[in-house]
Amino acid sequence: MKNTVCELSDIRENDLSDIVAGGTIGKEIIFLPEVDSTNIYASKLARDGMPEGVVVIADCQKRGKGRLNRVWQSPPGKNLYTSIILRPSIPSHLAPQLTLTAGVAVAELLSQYCPGTVMLKWPNDVQINMRKICGILTEMRIKRGKIDFVIVGMGININMKKEEFQEEFRESSTSLNQETGNRISRTDIANKLYRTFEKWYEIYLDKGFRPIREAWLGYSGILNKNIAVHYKKDVYKGRVIGIDEYGALLLFDEKNETKRILAGDVSLIGEQ
Ligand code: BTN
Repeated sequence: MKNTVCELSDIRENDLSDIVAGGTIGKEIIFLPEVDSTNIYASKLARDGMPEGVVVIADCQKRGKGRLNRVWQSPPGKNLYTSIILRPSIPSHLAPQLTLTAGVAVAELLSQYCPGTVMLKWPNDVQINMRKICGILTEMRIKRGKIDFVIVGMGININMKKEEFQEEFRESSTSLNQETGNRISRTDIANKLYRTFEKWYEIYLDKGFRPIREAWLGYSGILNKNIAVHYKKDVYKGRVIGIDEYGALLLFDEKNETKRILAGDVSLIGEQ
């Protein structure tokens, strides 16, 4: 067990220094006061041979990456930005299941703070009271047809105040501080996140995707709801009937056909 500590003073001030290395996830923790993106940094480490379970955590990101080339707002001293290196022996087309596994872990963790209000929105959003509190970005490298590594990046809004969100996200985003009225320790969240993720990752590796899918649907706010999925210029509409074993969203559309949706932004339509 080894902690690699950079610029400790910065990190200390911002209460990230007590994160405990150990277990299989977080067996080594790379702390960074500032980075372009923890996903980019973790990818470089993984290319250099870092093993599964090493995590990168940063106080702030200068180029935090969101899905679909969006920016993830990542100011210092507020939130959690972390990326986990995984090297699962699964076919590459099943990698989206890891995003859903991470979503279940985050939902379970945040439910400790806000019981009964946490929802998963396909494919990678965690919401509280219909506002986004966490985004997950999973990226992978394939080598000779096999997964070389997967990076699961998670951004959790912890102590961000409403007025600190960029205007365009202010109404649609939230933080644990906003939802509970308390200042929450990032260290506690990070320690719990690695343990909770480890638990669900082990379930996934031991028992496959089925228990993840069940847990995911349990937290899902969209099952049996009518939704629209926007992807680039296309819009797909229908009633959500589940997710398949590849993590694709299953929609029952107006032609009474089942459609598999692999990417896009989901919104509820009509009165539900
Ligand atoms: C999304 O909802 O669009 C995904 C956001 C993912 C943000 C996290 S923050 C830690 C990790 N590093 C990044 O650059 N992105 C992810």
